[in-house]
Amino acid sequence: MSKNISELSGRKGLKTNLFEELGLLAKEEGTPKKEDLERLADEFLIGKANVYGSASFYDFTREENKGKKVYICNGSSCMTAGTQSKVHDQLSKHFAAEEIGEMCCLGRCHENSSFNFDGRNYSGNAIEKIEDIKAGKDKPLDHYHVESVGSGMLTEVFSDIDTFYQILKDSLAKSPDELLSELKKSGLRGRGGAGFPSAFKFESCKNTPGKTKFVVCNADEGDPGAYSDRYLLEQRPHTVLLGMILTGYIIGASTGVLYIRGEYPESIDVVTEELEKLRQKNLIGEHIYGTNFSFDFKVIRAQGAYICGEETALLSSIEGQRPEVRIRPPYPAQQGLFNKPTVVNNVETLACIPWILREGGDSFAAIGRGKSTGTKLVSLDGFFNRPGIYEVDMGTPLSVVVEELGKGFKSPVKALHIGGPLGGLVPMDKIKDLSIDFESFNQEGFLLGHASVVCLPESYPVIEYIEHLFQFTAHESCGKCFPCRIGSTRGYEMIHKARTSDYKIEKTLLTDLIETMEIGSLCALGGGVPLPVRNALKYFHAELQPFFNA
Ligand SMILES: Cc1cc2nc3c(=O)[nH]c(=O)nc-3n(C[C@H](O)[C@H](O)[C@H](O)COP(=O)(O)O)c2cc1C
Ligand code: SF4
Repeated sequence: MSKNISELSGRKGLKTNLFEELGLLAKEEGTPKKEDLERLADEFLIGKANVYGSASFYDFTREENKGKKVYICNGSSCMTAGTQSKVHDQLSKHFAAEEIGEMCCLGRCHENSSFNFDGRNYSGNAIEKIEDIKAGKDKPLDHYHVESVGSGMLTEVFSDIDTFYQILKDSLAKSPDELLSELKKSGLRGRGGAGFPSAFKFESCKNTPGKTKFVVCNADEGDPGAYSDRYLLEQRPHTVLLGMILTGYIIGASTGVLYIRGEYPESIDVVTEELEKLRQKNLIGEHIYGTNFSFDFKVIRAQGAYICGEETALLSSIEGQRPEVRIRPPYPAQQGLFNKPTVVNNVETLACIPWILREGGDSFAAIGRGKSTGTKLVSLDGFFNRPGIYEVDMGTPLSVVVEELGKGFKSPVKALHIGGPLGGLVPMDKIKDLSIDFESFNQEGFLLGHASVVCLPESYPVIEYIEHLFQFTAHESCGKCFPCRIGSTRGYEMIHKARTSDYKIEKTLLTDLIETMEIGSLCALGGGVPLPVRNALKYFHAELQPFFNA
């Protein structure tokens, strides 16, 4: 059935896009009107249940969003920083309770106290000026430290469009196979979490027959604590855009789709403006540099759903379907957007491509450690003395990142949650054993993921943190498979009950539950949350013991 819907959705194409229509219709009142949903169902020939199923999925379009005017960030970093109750108190003086909603996460993890008002994000001391903000007298500020140690390719100073796009001109003089061979040599692996070899994916898509193919940029950076994709989109947008164009040339696609999270309004604005500049210079559109290669973009504003970062859910979302994870195979490289061959890549992965094609795959492969080549952006949250975005060579010791770059912590910390909600919970005495690369984290039983670092302060109870992780998973679960759909809710209930009453957890019950989730979940949401829970049980055994049966 969903395959048929993909075809139907594909007939309308990207210009008249059902998902976008839903978002636009929700803008006025916070949720689309019933009659509008029925009209869309008729227009797109996909049935009322499908349209309702999509609209009711997203945080920004579902019924509960009706009437919301201001949103408080409830991401892990703002939560562990303990800043959000003050934000809530202040906002309550200016907004009715039913006008205050929640968003996760605004990517202002470097200073916390984050909220969104009137489509703009605010953080740090901004809440003190809420009266001026509400009156339209105060503009959002967003400043954080950015530094690179080592090879610094993603953070390098941007010259200007004409100079930078010389890489495209030079690349178009070569064959797609020549460029692919450089990418193979580079050893580039996906930065979105899984570390999948990018050239392998490109080759597979390139070799799949088809006149229409797509390059999709996964800019749904949903991991609370991560804001490195936001940095690239807002401060180095051309690394990403050019990365997409070059990928299009390699695989034989003429359309790039940027799926950018709605929680990053500034990223959407910057990317849209920069695309306009490219259009003026004829660097996108038909016959780029007078060649036979044509490429154009579509920017899509996401509507608030963590699972849309999972590549197949993301594709269903663009098609206007309820964003449930798809069973693989077929992989997107064979049957992706509208059932056409599609490459889905993370922002940072795509941003590495111009550098690789300018400097050569061997130069990229010479940086890093083992099979983790190149550099990695790391996001440090507001608990560090010097929070910010750091670009380090793969293989850089974690202790260097924590002590020399982040300059330690504002107050004592007992664990670092690295790689998002599905990443490992690293206790302080393991920092010395880890370096920023895929293998080191895997060997030690953690996950590099997207390399976001959220601090768990000494005073923050681990039991509350794992309750938060189960609750997050339960909220974000797409519901397709029962181990995740039911398991995350049961996990949350079990931990919550133990934390708030004299109920004691049966350890085998919890370990059976996480094992079922790990083995039986279709994707890495349900399959991933057991990792930090296991880490918590292992490294914070003494602290958690009072909540368990002896
Ligand atoms: C629950 C879940 C959330 C994800 N969120 C993101 C995300 O926000 N950004 C991203 O690039 N990849 C995310 N991924 C990984 C994507 O499914 C996919 O592997 C990635 O976009 C591929 O690009 P890459 O090879 O460049 O990493 C997520 C995966 C899961 C299971
Ligand atoms: S693990 Fe969760 S998010 Fe992933 S497919 Fe299953 S229900 Fe959906």
